[in-house]
Amino acid sequence: MVGAIKEQKKVLVIGATGLLGQTVYAHFLQKGYDVQGTHNEQKKEGMQYLDLRGERFTAEVIRSINPAIIINCAALSNVDLAEKEKKLAYQINVKGVENIVKECEQRKIIHISTDYVFDGKKGNYQEGYYTNPLNYYGQTKLMAENMIRLTSDNYIIARVAVLYGFGRKNFVTETTKKLENREEIIVVKQKISPTFTPDIAQALEQLISLEAKGTFHITGDSQITRKKMVEIIAEELKIKPNIKLLDSHPNWVAQRPKNTSLNTERIKSLGLKMGTFQEGIKKMREATK
Ligand SMILES: NC(=O)c1ccc[n+]([C@@H]2O[C@H](COP(=O)([O-])OP(=O)(O)OC[C@H]3O[C@@H](n4cnc5c(N)ncnc54)[C@H](OP(=O)(O)O)[C@@H]3O)[C@@H](O)[C@H]2O)c1
Repeated sequence: MVGAIKEQKKVLVIGATGLLGQTVYAHFLQKGYDVQGTHNEQKKEGMQYLDLRGERFTAEVIRSINPAIIINCAALSNVDLAEKEKKLAYQINVKGVENIVKECEQRKIIHISTDYVFDGKKGNYQEGYYTNPLNYYGQTKLMAENMIRLTSDNYIIARVAVLYGFGRKNFVTETTKKLENREEIIVVKQKISPTFTPDIAQALEQLISLEAKGTFHITGDSQITRKKMVEIIAEELKIKPNIKLLDSHPNWVAQRPKNTSLNTERIKSLGLKMGTFQEGIKKMREATK
């Protein structure tokens, strides 16, 4: 079954130079799929240039590659930049997604969304719980979700959270550096579901082979605080952390939700397994030794 899907289905990873996109692209390539990736500002040999803000250009690129499945990992993912540059955030996170979806009448669209569509007052959110983003980034991601639900009947919206993995800096790589330099680590009171990017790539492949459709929380199997994340990384490194716990970060422009831990029973019921934060950290350490 999976073999047949691989042969028939060409996969286009949009944003294949990003933290998640790199790993998704490498995963599908390694699993034998016919994969094409796009880059934007970070030119990458073998990948197609794309600026998804251009409607006609996006259509031309998609039609020339003619994939059966598009995985959109591209976004303006910097929450504070989105708050400052609202027009740019809208163009990439909403208009850009619309430009892709217009070309998906005969294709499956897998779109990556975020836990920041929730206001963080409850936690352990299920897929159908009401959304109420606190910042502009979350608003743009929710607008894109709603547009996809209205215009596509073959979509997967994958809500992910606090990504860590390889290829681009992230909370885990930055915390590791600070711990190794014996620096103070400012940590904000937030409960989240950190997610190891290789686990997402694996889950997306499984959802494709199951021909799944709809909205899914694809997050790690630990609902933990940022403080606990630092403590787990420190334990792995055998370094005593110097943590300063704050309600809000002094450099933040956008408001952040307090508890956006996500419930993953839906993917578990389909047989998908996501790792815990401890497991992800051990895998990262093993890979970088
Ligand atoms: N990072 C997190 O912790 C987190 C948490 C929750 C949800 N998410 C969501 O997960 C997804 C992946 O996030 P990420 O952290 O991997 O993002 P990222 O590292 O910031 O990568 C963004 C990607 O989008 C591409 N891109 C940016 N502007 C573009 C444009 N105008 N046209 C075409 N491509 C463009 C970038 O290309 P170049 O690099 O070549 O310019 C890059 O490949 C996003 O949907 C994000 O909203 C992320």
